[in-house]
Amino acid sequence: MLPLNLSHYQQRVEQYLQRVLTQLPATDNRLLDAMSYSLLLGGKRVRPFLVYSCGTMLGASLDDLDGPAGALEALHSYSLIHDDLPAMDNDDLRRGKPTCHKAFDEATAILAGDALQTLAFDILANHPYQQVQASEIVAMLQGFARSAGYAGMCGGQAIDLAQTNQHTSLAQLERMHRLKTGALIENAIELAWLCSPKRQLDDKANLLSFARALGLAFQVQDDILDIESDTQTLGKPQGSDSKANKSTYPALLGLDQAKAKARQLYQDALNALARLPYNTDELRAFAQYIIERRF
Ligand code: IPE
Ligand code: IPE
Ligand code: MG
Ligand code: MG
Ligand code: MG
Repeated sequence: MLPLNLSHYQQRVEQYLQRVLTQLPATDNRLLDAMSYSLLLGGKRVRPFLVYSCGTMLGASLDDLDGPAGALEALHSYSLIHDDLPAMDNDDLRRGKPTCHKAFDEATAILAGDALQTLAFDILANHPYQQVQASEIVAMLQGFARSAGYAGMCGGQAIDLAQTNQHTSLAQLERMHRLKTGALIENAIELAWLCSPKRQLDDKANLLSFARALGLAFQVQDDILDIESDTQTLGKPQGSDSKANKSTYPALLGLDQAKAKARQLYQDALNALARLPYNTDELRAFAQYIIERRF
């Protein structure tokens, strides 16, 4: 495996988000505790990593990238809180700890998700950017909203629920995965691009091909780990998908074909990177990590 240092950017985004939470005005302490619990205690921070790694590759400043990195992690953390609710996947463990609705209560978990979602937009809009112009901030918000909502993550989650206990086609499954998980991962790359003052239009198509392949690979591997890993390692309940009779790549294709799909997507991601005129070593290592990770 290529060497990859995830912890530097993990620490960076966590410090940033910690500062953001500390600066919120006092309203309800229990709600703030639930937000902080779900946002700050654990998580691989892969979306912030992509923002930082791709953004610095394209010449953006780390200080500017804190905005989209923090916003994406807040939005992602909200999506996990709601994904775990009894009305959705009904899971009790997340990031190695009781899920938000178990540690607090359902109503608080719903509100913590809502408040993290709106906090994400607040961060993205109001971060003190140095080199990002107002027109780019608007473009970032437009793409972010689309990726998060009906045409992105929420739409994919709705398809996920509709496909539970149902036979699905490969095309439907791919669409669901591209929306529920791919959309935010693709958006990480788009936000990094928009933060970069010297970005080249020529690069955009290859960056987005990379992001599309990576985003789908990420959820295919997530489905594989639900079968192959264990609860302790995952920090979330192993076997949750099969227990709920979810539509997944291994369920539809079998484990071997699902793994072959992940490897194919990894190759697609590398091919897209190879067409870019930058040092893509870190993103290549990251793509490998995505399909080889154990949690
Ligand atoms: C889990 O995401 C949910 C999916 C979209 C597959 P991650 O695997 O990024 O979860 P954390 O943030 O590391 O907990
Ligand atoms: C992705 O699907 C969830 C989100 C878009 C939040 P999963 O339901 O498979 O995610 P995990 O496995 O619970 O993390
Ligand atoms: Mg789910
Ligand atoms: Mg789930
Ligand atoms: Mg899963």
